Amino acid sequence: MARLTEIAWEEFEQLPLEAKRPYLANYNLPDTPYHTLFAQQFDKPLLERLAALANRIRFMAKTKEGALYLKSLLPHKRAMLYFSQPSSRTFLSHLAACQILGLTTGSVRDAATSSEFKGESHEDSIRTFSSYFDMIIMRTPEKGLAEHMAWELSNSSRPIPILNAGSGKDQHPTQALLDIYTLLRSFEMKGGLRNRTVTFCGDLLRGRTVRSLSYLLTNFENIRQVFVAPRELQVPEDVLAILKEKGVSYALSDNLREAVSLSDAVYMTRIQDEWDLSKGDSARIDTSHFKFGAEELKLLPKEGVIMHPLPRRDEIATCCDHDPRAMYWRQMRNGMWIRSALIAMTFGFEQQIMCFGA
Ligand code: CP
Repeated sequence: MARLTEIAWEEFEQLPLEAKRPYLANYNLPDTPYHTLFAQQFDKPLLERLAALANRIRFMAKTKEGALYLKSLLPHKRAMLYFSQPSSRTFLSHLAACQILGLTTGSVRDAATSSEFKGESHEDSIRTFSSYFDMIIMRTPEKGLAEHMAWELSNSSRPIPILNAGSGKDQHPTQALLDIYTLLRSFEMKGGLRNRTVTFCGDLLRGRTVRSLSYLLTNFENIRQVFVAPRELQVPEDVLAILKEKGVSYALSDNLREAVSLSDAVYMTRIQDEWDLSKGDSARIDTSHFKFGAEELKLLPKEGVIMHPLPRRDEIATCCDHDPRAMYWRQMRNGMWIRSALIAMTFGFEQQIMCFGA
């Protein structure tokens, strides 16, 4: 059994992401994540377990009896939502997930309102949260901070799980979980999530959701990935290296309309100009051909879906919003269900929920 307490940080940090997976598992339930830090922790059986648990929670939450049962599971646990980057959906859906399961919550949404303003390090802040809470759900601009804190907390006298709610330009694993859940639901009655083409479009260089989802899709059979972006914002080499290593078919393109006509799912993303090195860098890139509107809607196959992690700017025209293939609103709500499933699983309540009413 691999344990974070038995490996030095310097050694752990250097491991390939897939090799880190066993160290991040629950010691008593080795197939279940304890810390959730990267998409590389999730294989197909685990994704299917999570989707089944999310479905179960979704149906239970519709009845008073089911909702009260869910709420009775974790009233003895408290979660800290530490978001030092802006968020609407990830923050609120984690908050709602905690409420569904009966956890109480605290939050810091701006480091300027915590003692970090007085010079306290992120590390000391997070150690402080662990004194009062039983889980930390964190979003930060720093790549690797969630991972480092997971190691630190596991080696402290108060080990508690960390959920990475978005780290730097690097990973957004719970977003990728809700994206996969949305794809599984979208194709459930249409032959399943296999033999599909998924097109990513927009700022693929700096979109952390793309890196995480591209990896998760490699768990499914024969999913071709197409990356449509301006040359300056094309998908980074490390994402392609994984696809090459896994023998996944992919293509790079600058022709959205052609890609849409051949796609089962189109995953639009916004330009992430908050990462510009100099203000206005992104505005100098011609992104006009990387928007989904009425013309693209005509080209999308009948059973295709349009997705977006949101927030959007103008990369999906609002005229698409009422088309039955526009999945982004349902995708957003799916975040609440899959995050409820992940939190319940992290605290070891999967079987109890799955057996409800049996
Ligand atoms: N998709 C996503 O991460 O949205 P927020 O930034 O609103 O949380």
